[in-house]
Amino acid sequence: MFYFQRMGEVCQFQFVLSILLLMECTFMSTQFSAMSQTIKGLPLLYQGKVRDLYEVDNRHLLMVTSDRISAFDVILPNIIPGKGVVLTELSNFWFKWALHLVPNHLQLAEKTLKDVFPDPEQRSLIASRAVIVRKLRGLPLEAIVRGYLIGSAWKDYNSKGMICGTRLPEGMCIADSLPEPLFTPSTKAGLGNHDENVSFEYIVDSIGPKLAEQLRTISLDIYRKAATYALKRGIIIADTKFEFGLDEYGNLVLMDELLTPDSSRFWLANQYQSGTSPPSFDKQFVRDYLETLDWDKTPPGPELPSEIVAKTVIRYRDVLKLITDAELNTF
Ligand SMILES: Nc1ncnc2c1ncn2[C@@H]1O[C@H](COP(=O)(O)OP(=O)(O)OP(=O)(O)O)[C@@H](O)[C@H]1O
Ligand SMILES: [Mg+2]
Repeated sequence: MFYFQRMGEVCQFQFVLSILLLMECTFMSTQFSAMSQTIKGLPLLYQGKVRDLYEVDNRHLLMVTSDRISAFDVILPNIIPGKGVVLTELSNFWFKWALHLVPNHLQLAEKTLKDVFPDPEQRSLIASRAVIVRKLRGLPLEAIVRGYLIGSAWKDYNSKGMICGTRLPEGMCIADSLPEPLFTPSTKAGLGNHDENVSFEYIVDSIGPKLAEQLRTISLDIYRKAATYALKRGIIIADTKFEFGLDEYGNLVLMDELLTPDSSRFWLANQYQSGTSPPSFDKQFVRDYLETLDWDKTPPGPELPSEIVAKTVIRYRDVLKLITDAELNTF
């Protein structure tokens, strides 16, 4: 609670600080994005909307999280300075926190950044936003869990009265908490395409009943426990998306990112009100701004004003602090 009272007071100070940091970090991020194309000796395997994957060997990948931001599945021209560092720190925190629930791609890596980049100078250029992970066979779906009626779930509820095949009680309002958390998987669309919500039966057909059941049970378990943890820190995790892959033995392993503002909707519990869409730490803030423009949501995305960028920087840093207590002075 103390943090929330303080948050209002320090917000203006943080904003000024953030503008100053923005100038310095923009330089560092530009330096980084130039460098991201030229990591010596490691082939760039895949460039996602946010992450760049380099091949280390046939069992390992270097995953570098950039400061790119996407909205409506379009990469925007701006960078959000330090965003990649926040996402990396937050994911590392949650992967460690969830170790007792499910194996993850960091834990299964048999190499470290130090093994791959023995030169400290070279390592220091990426250390805060890069990890060595076990290369997995990613499942072609997004394991989404929702605790609240928002986003595409709210749209589906309004048009069909159900989400991913589960019927919900009548008369629910936007942002209402669901009777119980729901597993609402979606397809994982390629670059430039949109994911689509699918039924549990669709998942059973695509990966088989045993794996589908395991996926649902683990996803709900992580969500429930993470939501309880976050609530003690004043944050509601309204929904989140997990990605899983299989190792060479067919074991289910958690990969990609975990419980970050890019993969989840975080709301401040003391601002939550059923019936209204609560202010969010996720990209909703940027989406709300974009909705005020006359943009058809196809590439190229519009430039964000520096004020929106600066406020987004603050949000990413705040959520890291709220969840992990870490101060972000590492970038
Ligand atoms: N351990 C891993 N092994 C193999 N692939 C991985 C691993 N961890 C993450 N990935 C993949 O790396 C990519 C990371 O890219 P990024 O986070 O930019 O997302 P994206 O593919 O653009 O899409 P999305 O919006 O769904 O996150 C994803 O395709 C993810 O599935
Ligand atoms: Mg991703």
